[in-house]
Amino acid sequence: FSLKNYNTFGIEAKAEQFVAVHSVAELKSILEQNKNQKKFILGGGSNMLLTKDIEALVIHIDLKGKKILKEDADYVWVESQAGENWHEFVLWAIDQNFGGIENMSLIPGNVGTTPVQNIGAYGVEMKDTFVSCEAINIESQEMRTFTKEECNFGYRESIFKNEVKDQYIITSAVFKLTKQNHKINTSYGDILAELTKNNITTPTLKDVSNAVIAIRKSKLPDPAELGNSGSFFKNPILLKTDFEKIHQNFPEMRFFDISATEVKVPAGWLIEQAGLKGKRFGDAGIHKNQALVLVNYGGATGQEILEVSKTVQDTVFNTFGIHIEAEVNII
Ligand code: EPU
Repeated sequence: FSLKNYNTFGIEAKAEQFVAVHSVAELKSILEQNKNQKKFILGGGSNMLLTKDIEALVIHIDLKGKKILKEDADYVWVESQAGENWHEFVLWAIDQNFGGIENMSLIPGNVGTTPVQNIGAYGVEMKDTFVSCEAINIESQEMRTFTKEECNFGYRESIFKNEVKDQYIITSAVFKLTKQNHKINTSYGDILAELTKNNITTPTLKDVSNAVIAIRKSKLPDPAELGNSGSFFKNPILLKTDFEKIHQNFPEMRFFDISATEVKVPAGWLIEQAGLKGKRFGDAGIHKNQALVLVNYGGATGQEILEVSKTVQDTVFNTFGIHIEAEVNII
């Protein structure tokens, strides 16, 4: 079974066996029936690089549906099943005038995978509106609720990438969204510039979403046209003391304070300054508008993309002495 249409990098890789599940009951019985079989869980396929065929039963989580669990005068608690497309969920929320996730418009992938890496964009992270998620234990098939605190969210981090890695499948998630007094967030410079360009001074949820969509379209390649997985690397976090030494040699280096002792450096800037932006190696390359994104021009293999990612890491390290870590799961 070809996985080419199930990963946004558009990599050709084969699954030994493949099954799509449409209900939690179906998922439970598949897990029960295949207890001793190697399993590989596939959501939206938007944050992984396949470097080989998958010798396992690939379970594609296709659980659909969303509903309002409860509401009060100010907030609404919305539950979405894991297989809902994230961007469609965002647009649906905006249509109902539910606020809090509009800055995360157009992020590829499904709702069920958003907690795994605590997706974020333009000044907002998923954890800001996340309440809890339901997940099934792959071994025991028991359902468990993970509260926000239990998820242990950090920058592109959660318990699902660490303590309980590969143990659970998220089946649904609950978000607490605003019904009024929306916290419109235009703190990210690009958003404000985009709104100003369109003479918008008091933006609605839809205006913010449209601004984000315009910015993303101008910088980030559309996976339907050019295979990619969004940011391939995380922005490195450095101790201020280490950063200051590097900064002396590279005074132009961009940085953002994230705590009293740490700064975050944009990896896109490092890759661009290292001379790699827009470079192409066969069918694999570094995107011309956002150096943090690796792209597949059509026929690249996962191994070829991986090679490019290593070249990027080595070049950045040799230039700045900074190690950049992959954000994408390398399979
Ligand atoms: N920059 C460059 N060259 C580049 C890219 C960026 O110099 O090729 C500089 C920009 O000029 C800017 C800074 O780096 O000063 C930050 O750039 P940008 O606003 O594009 O954001 P980013 O830090 O590169 C992060 C997220 C994106 C998210 C944007 C906007 C990570 C790993 N990536 O990128 O997330 O959309 O911020 O919030 O944190 C994703 O995770 O897939 C993703 C696209």
